[in-house]
Amino acid sequence: MTEYVKVEVEAGVMTLTLSRPDKKNALSNAMYGVLADSLERAETDPAVRVVVFQGDGDAFTAGNDLQDFAAQATGAFTGERHVLRFIRALALATRPLVAAVHGQAVGVGTTMLLHCDLVFVSPDARLTVPFVNLALVPEAASSLLLPARIGHARAYAMFALGEAVDGTTAAAWGLANAVVPRDELRARARAAADQVATRPLGALTVTKRLMRDGEAIAALMDKEAALFGERLQTAEAREAFMAFAERRPPDFSKVG
Ligand code: COA
Repeated sequence: MTEYVKVEVEAGVMTLTLSRPDKKNALSNAMYGVLADSLERAETDPAVRVVVFQGDGDAFTAGNDLQDFAAQATGAFTGERHVLRFIRALALATRPLVAAVHGQAVGVGTTMLLHCDLVFVSPDARLTVPFVNLALVPEAASSLLLPARIGHARAYAMFALGEAVDGTTAAAWGLANAVVPRDELRARARAAADQVATRPLGALTVTKRLMRDGEAIAALMDKEAALFGERLQTAEAREAFMAFAERRPPDFSKVG
């Protein structure tokens, strides 16, 4: 275990388990670093034929660590933002990606699923992308991929109103392959990964490349990231992060 992400490789399957349950698996910069390193390794390590994402505790992930966002908003954080390396690795991944999602999947917890090839959800899954509530904007190419997957109206309600999508609805809308009882979720994702691991890697790689243009997706991510970085510096974003820390609703009326 490194930095709250468990990395295991067994029988061709790399399993990345988010394991910071007391913080609902909120993703710190260091955790993104481990995820990025692991995806980069998966591309070149012949022992890895497929990657599975899952979460410990009662949530998949509460998304980006809001304390990290607050530090970025005030200029207190100046290092490399590993999240950008992580989402780029998602866009360019040639290995099949599988996700097992239960409970909260906030922000990047949902947008990363748009880069996964097989997604299994439990009925209690709660997919949200509340970027606008945080005075932020969509990332990880979700501004294109989410409306493409579920239509503009549904995607807008998710982005702008922060509307949640439960597991059953996620499967009905094509965000997930299947709804699986919580106690069978990991086994189902693993069985799917095991099956994929037996398929010829060359054919899988070309199939995925034909289905999605990773370079174009990564280019859109860069554009979004520039705007996201600008929004992080705004007074409205600082108000959103302060409100979360103070456990009160944000008041945007005074900040524009
Ligand atoms: N960043 C940092 N800490 C987080 C976090 C995040 N994104 N999400 C949750 N936590 C922490 C809480 O501060 C709390 O810590 P504490 O016990 O030290 O006070 C702990 O995790 C449990 O969270 P809590 O809010 O009490 O759980 P909940 O079940 O009532 O609600 C969520 C769960 C996910 C709905 C809620 O925590 C939430 O909305 N989190 C923010 C999600 C978000 O906006 N992410 C960014 C998306 S871009």
